[in-house]
Order: sequence, then structure tokens, then C-alpha cells
Amino acid sequence: MNELNDLDIILQDALKLVTSVTSINELDLTKTSTLGKSGKINALMQNLKNISNNDKKTYGAKINHLKTTIENAFLSRREELSSYALTKKITEETIDVTLDGNHNKLGSLHPVSITLNRMLNIFGQMGFDIADGPEIETDYYNFKALNIPDNHPARAMQDTFYTENNNVLRTHTSPIQIRYTENKTPPIKVIAPGRVYRVDMDATHSPMFHQLEGLWIDKNISFANLKGVIVEFLRKFFNKEDLQIRFRASFFPFTEPSAEVDILSNDNKWLEVLGCGMVHPEVLKNMNIDVNEYNGFAFGMGIDRFTMLRYDIQDLRLMFENDIDFLNQFSGKNEVDI
Ligand code: DAH
Repeated sequence: MNELNDLDIILQDALKLVTSVTSINELDLTKTSTLGKSGKINALMQNLKNISNNDKKTYGAKINHLKTTIENAFLSRREELSSYALTKKITEETIDVTLDGNHNKLGSLHPVSITLNRMLNIFGQMGFDIADGPEIETDYYNFKALNIPDNHPARAMQDTFYTENNNVLRTHTSPIQIRYTENKTPPIKVIAPGRVYRVDMDATHSPMFHQLEGLWIDKNISFANLKGVIVEFLRKFFNKEDLQIRFRASFFPFTEPSAEVDILSNDNKWLEVLGCGMVHPEVLKNMNIDVNEYNGFAFGMGIDRFTMLRYDIQDLRLMFENDIDFLNQFSGKNEVDI
């Protein structure tokens, strides 16, 4: 019977077709066109009525067998394809945990901030409060109240930036001494860090720099107290118990007597680090302090200068350029703990 041979060919063709399909979508379409109503197999079924009664049984069984074989082939191809798809998905989504990650680099504190924190911590341990004041200052607080009258030569020492209404960009943090104290009664024990401004710019001067001011007013304060605080601070700051320190007589309009303080460097040079003195009676009066009952001392230092000394930085301008390679050297540094 010819039809039986035809069935074999149909089966082989169908099985070939099933294996050639590469996606589930395509497989579904092929299944409909092969096994569906208008498919070849259905046409064979329809053809049964034309087969002689003798052959009908064998032929019918053959077609049924062919149909299940093809159906099974579709089923197993479907499984194959979905397991390929799954494996592909898993492979594509695999994370290689051995690859180097994307690092979010931590920034660093600016060396000036590190230094300031260190200073605040040391003075904090000695019981100093912290104050601040405005960067645009009146002539009164920046100069007059600090015993620097008009036309006083000391004004020339500080090349001042003037703003409108005869105000100035403060040339030092000393005006905070007056602002903080004028409405308070002693004991007063305060430090005041902040930005200050002067018309100056070279390797050791910048038009904006940072100072820290200190003031201690109480009964019976002496130069010995001043010396004690400064020596203690410097030895702690530079982390050197036997740091050599010298007080050199000097002049500031707001202190009397006044001194500049030097430290001995590792290569045996005296380096000036701060100015200080006993608060001038005229200044105490401007603070509304009874000079018969109280006295005190004050000091002022450059935070940038201390930073340069501590980290051996040669050029002050580096401090304000925000060069990443420069700043990276301070990454992870936390030298606040004394
Ligand atoms: N104000 C001074 C300056 O800018 C620094 C200074 C010196 C402050 C002596 C003081 C002091 O409080 O007593 O150069």
C-alpha cells in the first residue's frame, strides 16, 4: 500500500521540521500548521474514508501512531528549548564575584579641617568654649575696639580689604574677642576659629587664610597661665613632649605685654607659630570688663601655618588649589584624637 510509505515520509519530514525549530514561538506555529485543522495529519484523517475497509484498520492505527509520535516530538522539543532558554538566561545573568568591583572612593577631610579639629579637641580638653563671628566686620570691632585707632601704624601691618560703608573683610579673628565678651561676665574661656582676609599672595601668604583666636579672662590670670596653656597646646599638637618653645617679647596693640612664640624645628631652626599677650586694659574696657577685678590673656595663630608645619607642606597655595593628588594624601587621616 503506497499510502503507508507516504506516511513514513510524512513522519520523517515532520520530525526533521521539529528538530530544526529553534524557538518556542516558532515551535508553536509549526505545531499548529502540522497538527492543526488545516495540517497534513488532519488531511490524512479525512482521507480515511477513501481507504478500502480492509486496509482502514491498519492505516488508521498507523496515522494515530504517527500523530502521537509527532506530538511527543513537539513536547520533547519544547522541553529542550525551554531548558536552553533557561540555561542561556542563567549564564547571561551570572555575576562573576571574582571580578574587581566598582569602588566608591571615600573623600578626605581637607588638611586644614584636620588641623582645626585637632586644635578644637586640644582646647576643648582644656575647657575652652567655641565662638565665631562675621567675616565682614566693622571698623570698630576689627580695629578700634582692639586698641588700633585711625591712622595707627598697626593698620598698615594688615593690608585690609575694604567693603562698602567702611566695613572690612576681617583681617584677623581678634574682633570675636570683643563680640563674644561685651555682653558676658567672666570667667570667659573661649577659642574662635575662622577665615580672615588680607591683601597678600605668595608662597607663604594667601588673601584668605585661617586663624584661631583664644581668650581667657578671669580673676588673677597671669602670664604664667598663658605660658602654661600655650606650652601644653603646642606639645600636644605636635605630639612632642620635649618640644622646645620660646617666648619672645613683641608688640600687639591689643595686648600688653605681648609675645611671639617660636618652636624649635627638627633641623634646629626657631619657627614663629603664634602671637599672644595679656589683654590690654583698653581692650578689657571695650569688652565691658571691670579692669580692677579681672584680667586675662589672648593668643592668635594661623591654622594653615600649623598645617604646613605638621605635614611639612612647603607652599601655602597648595592648601587652596584643591588638587586631588594633594588631597588624596590625607585620605583616611583622622588625627583628631590626641
Ligand atoms: N591678631 C593677630 C594677627 O592677626 C594675632 C594675635 C596676636 C592675636 C596676639 C592675639 C594676640 O589675640 O594676643 O596677627
